[in-house]
Amino acid sequence: MSTRTIRPRRSTLAVPGSNPKMIDKARSLDVDAVFLDLEDACAPNAKAEGRKIIVESLREGGFDGKIRTVRVNDWTTPWTYRDVVDVVEGAGDALDCIMLPKVQDAAQVRALDMLLTQIEKSTGLDVGRIGIEAQIETAAGLIALNEIAQASDRIETLIFGPADFMASIQMKSLVVGEQPPGYDVGDAYHHILMTILMAARAHGLQAIDGPYLQIRDVDAFRRSAQRTAALGFDGKWVLHPTQVEVINEVFSPGQADFDHAENILDAYEWCTSEAGGSRGAAMLGDEMIDEASRKMALVISGKGRAAGMTRTSGWQPPE
Ligand code: GLV
Ligand code: MG
Repeated sequence: MSTRTIRPRRSTLAVPGSNPKMIDKARSLDVDAVFLDLEDACAPNAKAEGRKIIVESLREGGFDGKIRTVRVNDWTTPWTYRDVVDVVEGAGDALDCIMLPKVQDAAQVRALDMLLTQIEKSTGLDVGRIGIEAQIETAAGLIALNEIAQASDRIETLIFGPADFMASIQMKSLVVGEQPPGYDVGDAYHHILMTILMAARAHGLQAIDGPYLQIRDVDAFRRSAQRTAALGFDGKWVLHPTQVEVINEVFSPGQADFDHAENILDAYEWCTSEAGGSRGAAMLGDEMIDEASRKMALVISGKGRAAGMTRTSGWQPPE
């Protein structure tokens, strides 16, 4: 089980690391996390310049309160070690996480962990402070997920990468995140999403859904986000400012659910106390509540409090 303190990540904004204008725009958006990309949104001949731009941007700051992540290239490329060394040596104290794409096995996470540890030691940074976000976007990565999730204490998130995943399993579709044409008997992503969610929950990590590429179709984006939010995922990527408000709303509980969860917590605390009759099961209105209800309420209440919600109706013990 991870013992790291992990901050809420309803929205994670993807930003090409070689584009200073987009990095600047990211500073002003109301997202929980930003990742500056050296991988697929950064052309091969722009990667060296991208590293410099990222270091300068992180040093400049202005990402107040947002989780700052850099996505490096995957270990099968020639670029990963140089990405990590340049970015962490240059701006390790202004960086929260490194995102590792296309993770295939636990050894790839351990390799990143060791490299980070050496750089932290040699530059006087706090050893272990920089987290790892592991993208699961291949069949091999999904099969090795349980080991990947435990490969380092630095891991904070397991992220579904739908585009690469679709390519990896040779799904017959080009529309990322939508059902492949011809498959009309369920959700083609259900097994993948649930496997990622189970590994995340079993090891105390966040489960994050990846991008939705049709950025002009906000309704379809909302539908796609609602599916993973309903399962229990913690957040999803955003690629464009129009997606930000939707995603923060979808991954926060509704006000009525938040109030209800807070009422369950208060009512159950009272019922189990001596004043409330030391009862393990009791009625809240028409609903029977018990210890399992308290655990479910804690989830909704925790997500709401983390999103800064306040309660609009209170519960009072009976006279
Ligand atoms: C994200 O990296 C994806 O491949 O969907
Ligand atoms: Mg990808």
